[in-house]
Amino acid sequence: MSQLKLAPSILTADFARLGEEIRSVAPYVDWFHLDVMDGHYVDNLTFGPSIVDAVRRSCDLPLHVHLMIEQPAKYVDVFVKAGADRISFHPEVTDDPAGVIDAIGSAGAGAGVAVHPDVGLEQVRAHLEALDVILMMTVRPGFGGQAFLEEVLPKIKEAREIVNQSGRAADIEVDGGVNLDTVGRAVAAGGNSLVAGSALFDGLNAPAAAYRLKERLRELGHD
Ligand code: DX5
Ligand code: ZN
Repeated sequence: MSQLKLAPSILTADFARLGEEIRSVAPYVDWFHLDVMDGHYVDNLTFGPSIVDAVRRSCDLPLHVHLMIEQPAKYVDVFVKAGADRISFHPEVTDDPAGVIDAIGSAGAGAGVAVHPDVGLEQVRAHLEALDVILMMTVRPGFGGQAFLEEVLPKIKEAREIVNQSGRAADIEVDGGVNLDTVGRAVAAGGNSLVAGSALFDGLNAPAAAYRLKERLRELGHD
């Protein structure tokens, strides 16, 4: 198996010390996962492009922006300008997912479809040839710190089969409730990129937690 990737979500980081938090875990992780919420698609509100830009200036790692917003096409350019290397969106918010995927590609970023726990893989199948990442949600979008939804595991397996059969090297990123306990099941189902928010930040020793989770990924990936 190729190297398993760790992508911290900064949702539960201390925003008063954001640069420090980013730099403290950067040596042990592969990407940063930035959760943008608009109070419409989900109840919660988080941040916009200025925080993406702040993370961009705090490290050299690639940034994956997870849009949990309505009208994603409208905001693609501004997030790419702020430093997004990848953008994922929830296709159920639009009548034209292909248009959003095109807009992301034209802006120069990789595109991803985010799959809500209650939504199937139809949009993934329909647009697979244009996707760099499939973001499989193992919590209901909206908040960090929720419990991993075990019932999503068969759908992750199905997504892995779809990707492998296509021969496309899209990442399958598992997002929500990933920690030392759940990560093995997420990887066994076919996830190769793992988001972790509260398992790293949330008042913990973030670099030690990142180091331990990355070590576990090394063991699971045998590399
Ligand atoms: C949920 C977000 C996730 C989540 C990750 O809406 O998309 O990225 O916050 O945080 P934990 O690891 O705490 O579930
Ligand atoms: Zn996310």
